[in-house]
Amino acid sequence: MRNFTFYVPTEVEFGKDTENKVANLIKKHGGSRVLVVYGGGSAQKSGLLDRIYSRLKEGGIPYESIGEVKPNPTLELARQGVMQALAMKADFILAVGGGSVIDTAKGIAHGNANPGIDIWDFWTVKASLSRSTPVGVVLTIPAAGSETSASAVLTNTEIGQKRGLSSEYNRPAFAILNPELTFTLPVYQVACGITDILMHTLDRYFVPEEDNETTDALAEALLRTVIRNGAIAIKNTQDYQAMSELMWCGSLSHNSITGLGSRGDWAVHQLGHELSARFDVAHGASLSAMWKSWALYVYKANPGRFARYAQAVWGIGDAGDDEKKALSGIDATVAYFKSLGMPTNFKELGIGTLTDAELDELAYRCTYFGARTIGNLVVLDQKKIRDVYALANQGA
Ligand code: NZQ
Ligand code: ZN
Repeated sequence: MRNFTFYVPTEVEFGKDTENKVANLIKKHGGSRVLVVYGGGSAQKSGLLDRIYSRLKEGGIPYESIGEVKPNPTLELARQGVMQALAMKADFILAVGGGSVIDTAKGIAHGNANPGIDIWDFWTVKASLSRSTPVGVVLTIPAAGSETSASAVLTNTEIGQKRGLSSEYNRPAFAILNPELTFTLPVYQVACGITDILMHTLDRYFVPEEDNETTDALAEALLRTVIRNGAIAIKNTQDYQAMSELMWCGSLSHNSITGLGSRGDWAVHQLGHELSARFDVAHGASLSAMWKSWALYVYKANPGRFARYAQAVWGIGDAGDDEKKALSGIDATVAYFKSLGMPTNFKELGIGTLTDAELDELAYRCTYFGARTIGNLVVLDQKKIRDVYALANQGA
């Protein structure tokens, strides 16, 4: 087991009607002037936003709001939010929505606490983050896990780059998880969310380290739970029990616990981010579109690990050698993505067939213009990244 620090200070309020506690939670975490951040319309339409405003008024908490956060949220809107937060002297940022809204709120929080620094400098590591403004979350979709994670992902549309910032200052102060708030989700977003929750653990699971008994057991249990309840939720998006499991797994899958003691791999996430930056596709869809090609490209580096996954997660029996079991596990995963209606290659993702030049460009951008490799199970340089993209392009 490698050394690790595990500090997840986010207070979780789980269950029906928990959003009614929002004002008390804000006060408990030091907030007295709040900027509310929300998305493109679902929270207004469902009446959630009005309920939150009512609770803030009853609690005597002055607030302003900023909306229109889009999926694959932009740096530009976060910068606007920083100006608004500074102008109103906000001391607390409240996100009402999913990963896109939460990550915008995190960006605003960092800018508000560090006036004079352009927030993109934190994402490009030109400036280091040593303080932020507390963020609270009312979650409306189980997916990104941003409600407890140490990450925030923004897209700089000027340069076409989608980038994550990893920092302990990204952990929200509290997260309100009421599964009923997800009941208005379209099936496609539920499927994208299930995929992302699985991928947050899969991208931590396929690693060179194999001496993490506790972490591996937690990871496998979470994967089985998401697979089982995902199949129920996709048929009935208002199944409270299934949505409860997905919501809790969404937070656990990305709060670090399913990867402690190892480095994580994260290649599939990085490959997917480039697709979202270039084609504005949903995050979950970008991941399922890459996973099969990535798995087929790397599994030979450790067929035993993939065979263990096949057995522990999919119940694929003892018969056959590791290679055979590994391939059966990959097939089962791909079949599951398909059963959710998720794409497993570029064509299914709806981006057609890319030209050689487009594949070159995608791979180059994925290395941050030659500045990095990705992955740990197999380290992928620009050529290997291009190979994996080419497999997805061929429909592998
Ligand atoms: O904008 P509105 O109208 O609210 O609609 C949203 C949006 O269209 C809709 N939605 C959310 N809750 C709803 C609802 N519609 C009806 N009823 C509800 N209850 O769903 C759509 C997607 O929302 P979004 O916030 O984009 O989804 P998600 O939570 O999947 O977040 C995706 C973003 O998070 C990033 C992704 O890259 C992507 O930009 N990620 C953030 C991470 C983190 N901070 O730790 C980790 C992840 O790996 C991921 O990269
Ligand atoms: Zn993700």
